[in-house]
Order: sequence, then structure tokens, then C-alpha cells
Amino acid sequence: MDWSGSDPRYAGSLRSALTARLIDQGALRSGPIVAAFRTVPRHVFVPNVPPEVAYTDDVVLMKSDPTGAAISTVSQPAVVAMMLEQAAIEPGDRVLEIGSGGYNAALMSELAGLDGSVTTLDIDPEVTERARRTLTEAGYSRVRVVRADGEFGCPESAPYDLILITVTAGDIAPAWFDQLSAAGRLVVPLRLRGQTRSIAFDKNGDHLTGRSDVLCGFVSMQGAGANYERVLRLYEDKVVLRADEDQPIDIEPLEGVLLKPQTVEWSGILLDRNETFSNLDLWLACNFPEYCVLSVKRSAVKSGLVGPALRWGGSAVVEDETLGYLSSRPGPAKHLVELGARAHGPTAPALAANLVAQVRAWDKDYGHGRGPTFTAHPRSTPADELPIGTHITTRHTQLTISWP
Ligand SMILES: C[S@@+](CC[C@H](N)C(=O)[O-])C[C@H]1O[C@@H](n2cnc3c(N)ncnc32)[C@H](O)[C@@H]1O
Repeated sequence: MDWSGSDPRYAGSLRSALTARLIDQGALRSGPIVAAFRTVPRHVFVPNVPPEVAYTDDVVLMKSDPTGAAISTVSQPAVVAMMLEQAAIEPGDRVLEIGSGGYNAALMSELAGLDGSVTTLDIDPEVTERARRTLTEAGYSRVRVVRADGEFGCPESAPYDLILITVTAGDIAPAWFDQLSAAGRLVVPLRLRGQTRSIAFDKNGDHLTGRSDVLCGFVSMQGAGANYERVLRLYEDKVVLRADEDQPIDIEPLEGVLLKPQTVEWSGILLDRNETFSNLDLWLACNFPEYCVLSVKRSAVKSGLVGPALRWGGSAVVEDETLGYLSSRPGPAKHLVELGARAHGPTAPALAANLVAQVRAWDKDYGHGRGPTFTAHPRSTPADELPIGTHITTRHTQLTISWP
């Protein structure tokens, strides 16, 4: 069924309610972005769902691959709002979006105004065809829709004041840097050691300086810039480790490690159950080169095979034949948990103690809101010209994560 022709007044009232919710939860803050959210008819861009669903704060699936994995969506409004706040579009800006759906391009067109321009690009012809049709239907035919692999940007209309990527990237493509104007901004959901953060970078001479970051989730990049996670099965499909392509982690020596005696060490560090551990996870990733993400099925937790900090898994470290991971137990009050570490294998006591020492170090200096900053240099940059911090080398980039 095609719902795009739903009663505009009804759709408008649902849109106002969604906008109010996004303001309440802090995702929408700036006046012009609020106005754009009140104006752009999201239901036109997701004609496959009824208007009540179009104006729910949720992602809408548009296309899956043969395995059922999502490959194209119209993004969740709260994530769109947070990224637009990071992007800080001004009237007159020239904008390139990589990953089309129509909706975000229409919002950006409202923000860039008639003196600015928006080009949206997608690798999938079905998506560009739909984006072109729905943008025209919603009154945004001035948005340019291009079918191309975003790895190479869109040189025809460069330079851009903003390049905004709406698909998970494992790297920063050289074309994005080259096609930014001298003071241009790049907003990109970058996957780093199992977590995806939308990082807003400012172009700063020969490198990019991170200005803000928020956790988010997107479908994976296809094409020349595709970057796949390595999935290492530790126990059937119930306990798996996930690592980035550049991490030389070998799990062969870990065969049967979960059945070996366990060392448990508690840190005395208490966290609110509802707090995110994302900065702690990144801190551990910066301090343990063989950091990976442990994903577990509920049945593996129930059977006592693993006891991770979060019921779906979390931070883990591999050292030769030893596996350690972040764990938690109930704290002195219902809303609190105490963090600790569990480890199995020949050096389990040392690894559990090291993990706990790093949890304490993080809590002392960074546990209360101060996160790291990100800087991206071309891969060829000499090491002595990089800022102090943890350096992650990808195909094109030297990313530095610096803790203040
Ligand atoms: C989350 S959707 C984009 C959502 C959209 N910005 C919106 O308005 O809601 C991600 C899109 O990225 C596209 N994509 C994946 N890899 C790409 C690539 N290398 N170049 C361009 N587009 C790509 C997918 O086809 C998919 O349509």
C-alpha cells in the first residue's frame, strides 16, 4: 500500500508531535533545525508505512539483502536530528550527502536555503530513483540526486561546505577530504573497535579536527570503501568476538577457553545501570591493542558460560591463550552496578587485574563526562607529526584518539 497521499493535516499533527518529542529528549535544539523538522513531510519519503509509523522516532527499513540484513533505510529521526545539530548548516552552504533516502536531503535543503545547494548520492539505483521521485513529490526537486559510489564523493559539484555521510564508514575516504572547502565540515558515522560514533570534523589545513561525537548506528558501507567486521566464533554462535579488519587478532589459541577456570576481579567502581559505558569501552580499546567486542546470546549468560557487563556482551581483550572481558554485579542500591572483569586462560589473574586497573584509571580521570577528542590525518603523515594519543591506522587514515 502507498501511504504518501495521507491527509496532510493529519500528517502535520503527527509531525508536530514527533518534533515536540525530539525537542523534549534533547535531540533537537536549534531553531532552524526545529523549523525544518516541522516542515518536511517524512511520510512522503516512507510511502510503504502508515503515517503513524512514519512519525514514530524509528528507522524505516526500505531494502534488505538476500540474507535479510538491512542495506537501505530512512534513518531514525533522533539520529538525523543529532547529526544535523553536529553539521550546523548555514543558509548558502553547499552540501553533499552520501547515502540517500530523500528525507534528510529535504531537511538539509530547508537549512541551506535557495542560495545553497544539496547533492545526495547513493550507490543503489533503486534508492536514487525513489529519492528523486519522493523529493519531487515533496517539493524538493532542486536537490540533485546522483547514483555513484560515495567512496569517490561527487567531484562535479565540489567543493562542499559540508559532507555528511549517512552510512557506517570504516575509514575517511581521501575524496571527502579533497572535496571539502578550506573551512569545510565532515560529519561521518565512523566505526571504531566495534562502536559507531558520528564524529563532526572541521577541516584544518592538512588534517581534520573532531568537534563533537555521538553514538549512533547505520547500515554498512558498500562499494570500494566497504569495510567488514571480523567475526570470531568462540562458542558456536552463542559467544562471538568482533574485531576490526586492521586488528591482527587470532582466536585459534582460544579454543575451549571459556571452559577453563575463571578469575573474577571487582573494581569497587559503581555506575548507574542506565549510564552508557561507551567512553569506558573506548578507553579500554585505546589501552589494549587486542581489544574486541564480545557478543553473547542470552542462553550463554543464563547457562553461566559468560557473565558480561551488558546482557548482550561488551568489551573484551585477547592475550595469547587468555580471554578477559568486562563484567558487572549488582551494587548496593537497585540502580547501581559494580564493574569488574572475568578472565579465562593461562594469564587470567594478570589480565583480569589489568582490566580492573584500567576501569579504575578511566573512572578517576574520565568517568564523569569527559570523553576523548579525535583527529584524522592522511595515512602518509609521519608519526612524529601526529598528536599525542592512541593511533589507529586504516587504509587511508591515521586516526588519533586523545584523552584530555
Ligand atoms: C541509512 S541509508 C541513508 C538514509 C538517508 N540519508 C535518509 O534520508 O534517511 C544508507 C544508504 O547508504 C547507501 N550506501 C551504502 N554504501 C554506499 C556507498 N558506497 N556510496 C553511496 N551510498 C551508499 C545505501 O544504499 C543506503 O541507501
